[in-house]
Amino acid sequence: MRQLRLPQKLGWAAILLSLLVFRAAARAEENLCLECHEDQKKALAGSVHTGLTCTQCHGGNPASDDYETAHAAKDFKPLSDKRDIVAKCASCHSDVRMMNPYGLQADQLERYKTSKHGEQLLQHGDQKVAACADCHGSHDILKAKSPQARTFPGNVPQTCGRCHADAKLMAGYNLPSDVLEKYKSSYHAHLLLEKGDLSAPTCVTCHGNHGATPPGTREVGQVCGKCHGRQAELFEKSPHAGLLNEDLKRAGATPRFHECISCHGNHAIQKASINLFDQSCTRCHTDGTKPIAVRDAVAKIVGDANRDFEQADARVRQAELRGLATEEEQLLLGEARTQVTQLEVLQHTLSPEFLQPVAAHSAEIIGQTVSGVATLERVERWKRLALIPIWLFFIVMAGLFWLKWRQLARRRRP
Ligand code: HEC
Ligand code: HEC
Ligand code: HEC
Ligand code: HEC
Ligand code: HEC
Ligand code: HEC
Ligand code: HEC
Ligand code: HEC
Ligand code: HEC
Repeated sequence: MRQLRLPQKLGWAAILLSLLVFRAAARAEENLCLECHEDQKKALAGSVHTGLTCTQCHGGNPASDDYETAHAAKDFKPLSDKRDIVAKCASCHSDVRMMNPYGLQADQLERYKTSKHGEQLLQHGDQKVAACADCHGSHDILKAKSPQARTFPGNVPQTCGRCHADAKLMAGYNLPSDVLEKYKSSYHAHLLLEKGDLSAPTCVTCHGNHGATPPGTREVGQVCGKCHGRQAELFEKSPHAGLLNEDLKRAGATPRFHECISCHGNHAIQKASINLFDQSCTRCHTDGTKPIAVRDAVAKIVGDANRDFEQADARVRQAELRGLATEEEQLLLGEARTQVTQLEVLQHTLSPEFLQPVAAHSAEIIGQTVSGVATLERVERWKRLALIPIWLFFIVMAGLFWLKWRQLARRRRP
């Protein structure tokens, strides 16, 4: 047998030694919690925290497979008090250095403290409000962009609704328990839940996630204005902009003026139509007053433009069915539709002066469209009339041919 030289012997020894050290380390790291907690093991493995061990959140002695010893360690935390949960999650998530590599903010606890939830839990020990695990889960936490996450936009209403649709729980706080139901009936929810349009707002888009509090009078317009910037800008030009609660009381208006939501509502916002003028203004104004006169003037401008547009649209469609070449008129109609939509937005100023130029432009385009169709129809009529002399000519010619043929036939007879 060949003798090993010294450097080779040393090499083998080093490999053996490191294997032994590695095995020992592996034993020390062996997590015996998992032997008894199959469910939590599986949930954690599929979550964003897949690299964490049980003890990082619960403490305890993972080297023991004895129930008492495993749970009896001084640092063991069942996390049954929501204050412990918040402190545990924040022990990592408020650590900027730990969160930086993942590109995550480290402000959740700070913002949570400013929310109604955080205030109730951290100042009054109220265990019924939402803490981190109520919105995220405990072992099965996923990133919000994963469709199974409790925080995925389409699942948020249900996550909040678990408590906010619980009539008994909400009654204890004098809060309504129909917010989920109302939200589900809204146009926003229709877009989000049925059309999968993630640009529509969920509970947290309007309320914030960690700092969930009801928006105050001023912020409400800003909440809606985040997505409906043009309407918010135009609202600022309306007589309602800057109205304070005192003005409203003086005017005898019962509901507070909350920018957009005074007319549209907050949770059950519907697709807007001209009917909203009938439904919303009289909530605060009585017939025969200036505001109602303004409403009628504005509604008439928008309504007339809509009606004229519909009529022109119907006429173009009829012409098209008859096979007329309406390409130009359809282009004009598209332009008119833009103007009419403009009017529906511009009416937020509640001043006819803003609407009139656009209404006049829209009327002009609609006029061009209608006269365009009329011309096409006239040309079609002329074409039909022009056929009459041609047919007459053919009939006369046919008659002449026939006469000629008879003459020839008679001549050929013996
Ligand atoms: C020998 C099996 C066994 C081991 C090992 C074990 N557990 Fe448990 N654990 C249990 C059982 C059984 C329960 C349920 C007891 C009950 O229902 O009150 C439990 C309950 C818990 C609870 C909930 C406590 C509560 O009061 O609600 C937590 C948290 C927990 N274990 C974490 C751990 C952690 C962390 C480890 C490892 C350090 C661990 N367990 C090791 C068997 C075990
Ligand atoms: C990211 C932190 C975190 C990790 C890691 C974690 N837990 Fe938990 N665990 C929690 C929280 C938070 C609760 C409380 C849930 C609640 O009250 O809604 C909890 C509750 C429990 C409970 C009570 C029953 C239940 O499922 O709610 C058991 C048992 C438990 N954990 C075991 C484990 C075991 C075993 C591991 C390791 C596989 C583990 N946990 C890892 C955060 C964690
Ligand atoms: C031991 C440190 C630690 C603890 C404790 C911890 N986390 Fe995390 N958490 C992380 C790290 C690190 C990541 C990033 C993981 C990744 O992206 O791969 C993360 C990711 C997350 C994410 C996904 C963020 C995203 O969108 O990418 C959420 C949500 C989250 N944690 C919530 C919680 C909650 C809730 C708790 C308490 C129940 C908690 N975490 C406890 C370290 C921790
Ligand atoms: C009222 C529900 C709610 C509570 C309570 C809550 N979160 Fe969140 N959290 C969310 C939602 C929803 C998102 C998803 C982002 C979004 O859609 O705005 C989120 C996102 C996150 C993220 C991803 C990064 C980010 O900030 O966008 C982390 C990390 C996180 N939460 C940690 C926590 C921690 C830690 C706590 C407890 C201090 C907590 N959350 C409490 C609802 C909540
Ligand atoms: C675990 C139950 C629970 C969950 C989940 C929950 N909440 Fe709450 N929330 C409450 C309770 C209880 C209150 C009442 C606190 C109070 O008024 O003292 C409250 C209060 C509020 C308030 C303040 C209302 C007011 O006028 O005082 C808002 C806003 C709110 N929650 C929004 C949300 C949103 C948005 C979500 C989901 C992202 C959510 N909540 C999830 C229990 C919950
Ligand atoms: C389009 C924005 C928007 C969406 C989406 C939204 N809210 Fe609101 N919510 C508001 C506004 C604005 C108020 C304040 C109403 C007021 O002060 O009169 C409010 C008030 C509340 C209140 C206080 C109770 C009340 O009626 O005064 C709670 C609780 C609440 N919302 C929960 C939710 C929950 C849960 C969801 C999701 C199911 C949700 N909100 C979706 C805008 C929204
Ligand atoms: C996260 C963005 C977002 C927020 C915040 C938001 N919306 Fe919307 N909203 C949309 C989208 C997207 C649509 C559908 C596209 C459209 O018609 O403009 C929509 C549609 C509407 C419609 C129906 C429009 C129509 O065509 O008839 C009304 C009315 C409306 N929102 C009012 C509000 C009010 C009032 C608020 C505040 C309480 C609000 N929205 C907050 C995104 C948002
Ligand atoms: C004084 C009542 C009133 C207020 C305040 C109000 N709206 Fe409207 N809004 C209406 C009416 C009426 C319509 C329907 C116009 C139509 O279709 O003829 C409408 C239509 C809309 C539409 C659909 C048409 C369009 O503009 O695209 C959106 C979106 C909208 N409003 C958002 C808002 C937002 C955002 C605010 C707050 C900045 C707001 N509204 C404030 C009465 C109001
Ligand atoms: C939430 C209550 C409320 C709603 C809804 C409301 N208004 Fe007003 N409006 C007021 C208050 C308060 C004032 C200021 C006091 C006053 O002059 O009556 C005001 C003032 C006005 C003014 C100025 C009056 C003047 O003398 O210069 C006009 C115009 C007006 N509103 C039109 C409307 C129209 C149109 C609608 C429906 C599209 C409407 N308002 C819906 C409360 C409301």
